Amino acid sequence: MFITFEGPDGCGKSTQSRLMAEKLEAAGYRVVYTREPGGTDIGRKIRQIVLSNANEGMSPIAEALLYAADRAQHVFEIIGPTLKAGRVVVSDRFVDSSFAYQAVALNVGMAEVKAANDIATGGLRPDLTILLDVDPRTGISRVKKAKSKGQAEAQVDRIEARDLEYHAVVRKAYLDMAAREPDRIKVVDATSGDVASVHSKVCDIVMGFFSSKDVSK
Ligand code: TYD
Repeated sequence: MFITFEGPDGCGKSTQSRLMAEKLEAAGYRVVYTREPGGTDIGRKIRQIVLSNANEGMSPIAEALLYAADRAQHVFEIIGPTLKAGRVVVSDRFVDSSFAYQAVALNVGMAEVKAANDIATGGLRPDLTILLDVDPRTGISRVKKAKSKGQAEAQVDRIEARDLEYHAVVRKAYLDMAAREPDRIKVVDATSGDVASVHSKVCDIVMGFFSSKDVSK
C-alpha cells in the first residue's frame, strides 16, 4: 500500500503525513515514512541543488528532471523495496507535486513531466493520495511564520519564494487533478491549520481505505 500526501506549500502535509504514519504503525501496520525531495542520501544532495536560492537561473526542464532524478533514487532505494516487502509506504510528496509545480505552474507540460517520471518510477502510482488544500496566501504566510520561528529549514527556499500567482496555479492544478481522479485523490480542507481536526479527517479517509482494501498487517 502506497499512500502519498500532497498540497501547496504551507498546507501542513509534513505534520499530517507523519501523524498518519504513526497512527498506522500504532494500528499494527508496518510502515515506512519518507519524503521528497530528499528521501535518500543522494536525494538530499539533489534537494539542496533544486531548492537553493543560489540557483535562480535553473531552467524549468532542468528543475523537473532534478525532481525526477530524486524520485528515481527514492523509488530504487526506498519505495520499491519497501512495497516489495509488503509494507506500507507513506510519502510526503510524489509525482503529483511535479505535475502541479513543474508541468502546470512552470509550463513544462503534462506529457513531458509524465514521460520523465514514468522513466524515473517505472510508472509507479500511489494507491491513495491525500491532498491538503489551502489557499496560497494562508499557506505562504504560514511557511514564513514557521521559518521565522525556527520551526522549519532556515530560509524561504527557491520554490516557496515564487509569487502568490505561481502558488495559486499550483493549488488549482492540484484541485484539477483531484477532480480528474476522485477515487485516488481525496481533498481535505487544511485552511484552519488545526492539526487535530485535520488529522481526524485524514484518519477517517485512510483507515476507511485500509479496511475497504483489507490490507494485511
Ligand atoms: P517540501 O519538502 O514539501 O517543503 P518543505 O520545505 O516544507 O519541507 O518540498 C520542497 C519544495 O519542493 C516545495 O516547495 C515543493 C517543491 N517540489 C516541486 O516543485 N516539485 C516536486 O516534484 C516536489 C517533490 C517538490
